[in-house]
Amino acid sequence: MAKKPEKKEPPTTGHEWDGIREYDNPMPRWWLWTFYATIVWGIGYMILYPAWPMINGATTGLLGYSSRAEVAEQIAAVNERNAPLETRIEELALADIISDDLVGGTNGFAYNSGKATFFTFCAQCHGAGGAGSVGYPNLLDNNWLWGGSIDEIYATINQGIRDENNPNTHFSEMPVFSELLAKDEIKNVVQYVQSLSFDTFDVEMAAAGETVFLDNCAACHQDDATGDTFGGAPNLADAIWLYGGDTESLTETVKNSRFGMMPAWEGRLTEAQVRSVAVFVHAQGGGQ
Ligand code: HEC
Ligand code: HEC
Repeated sequence: MAKKPEKKEPPTTGHEWDGIREYDNPMPRWWLWTFYATIVWGIGYMILYPAWPMINGATTGLLGYSSRAEVAEQIAAVNERNAPLETRIEELALADIISDDLVGGTNGFAYNSGKATFFTFCAQCHGAGGAGSVGYPNLLDNNWLWGGSIDEIYATINQGIRDENNPNTHFSEMPVFSELLAKDEIKNVVQYVQSLSFDTFDVEMAAAGETVFLDNCAACHQDDATGDTFGGAPNLADAIWLYGGDTESLTETVKNSRFGMMPAWEGRLTEAQVRSVAVFVHAQGGGQ
């Protein structure tokens, strides 16, 4: 049974649990008014701004505001600001970009835009720092499969490597030697290749392998095995390996050949982006 409230106590709701009674106090005035104000504000917001979700998008609101339009506007403003710089990059000779007053320098527009492109489109394969990994060449050293001048780097990026969708792509193919050479010949030529870079190798096998090399490999890799950037045949005498210099990796390369592919960037990136990223790669220390 609820006790009768004492004189000074506020009225209770009449609920009681184990002797604890619930007061029936009114909400504080300030709280109520704030609450009503939020309702009014909410209705106003719904009328002015996009609010109710519908099947396609949402109600647009009287002000016609859209966060997408705002972003599009900002992007358009940035593009407009960059347009003259990009035109400049497209008009200059590649070799002149980095020394240009307007877009050049290693803190300039071309370099920074190339860097952003590199991190977005190239780092997945070539590594965030450009140091590469097995099958993906290091772009920081002075060791080039297809040439390290700015024009050659640009052409490689633009047209890709063994990209069958690009008619001008760099193309070459090392034969599958398991079909052309005897097992012994492969073993010997692997020893010969190792003899060019390492101190430990089988002297007799390497000597036999030299003949195999001159007959079967020198056409692409050159007599002195220093490679040929025209056909993307790597230098085999510099102890830098794309696919590995141990006996197992070399045997695999010779037996089955490799077929490193890079997509052409022409068409995926703008001309200014390809040029800028070529400038960035060229400036990484290995550019010739
Ligand atoms: C899907 C992986 C992949 C992506 C993405 C990629 N590359 Fe490559 N890239 C390769 C491979 C593989 C090679 C080596 C192909 C070969 O064996 O000749 C290569 C070669 C190169 C070379 C030639 C290096 C040399 O020694 O001549 C350059 C320059 C290059 N990439 C730049 C770029 C740039 C710039 C981007 C971004 C716009 C990029 N790559 C994105 C895979 C990739
Ligand atoms: C038709 C030209 C051609 C011929 C002939 C050729 N190669 Fe190659 N070789 C290439 C090309 C191109 C590559 C690069 C392949 C790639 O990146 O996918 C390559 C790559 C290699 C590599 C990998 C180098 C590395 O850094 O990992 C080795 C090793 C090699 N060749 C050895 C040989 C040997 C040994 C022979 C002879 C038995 C031979 N090649 C014959 C074109 C040729």
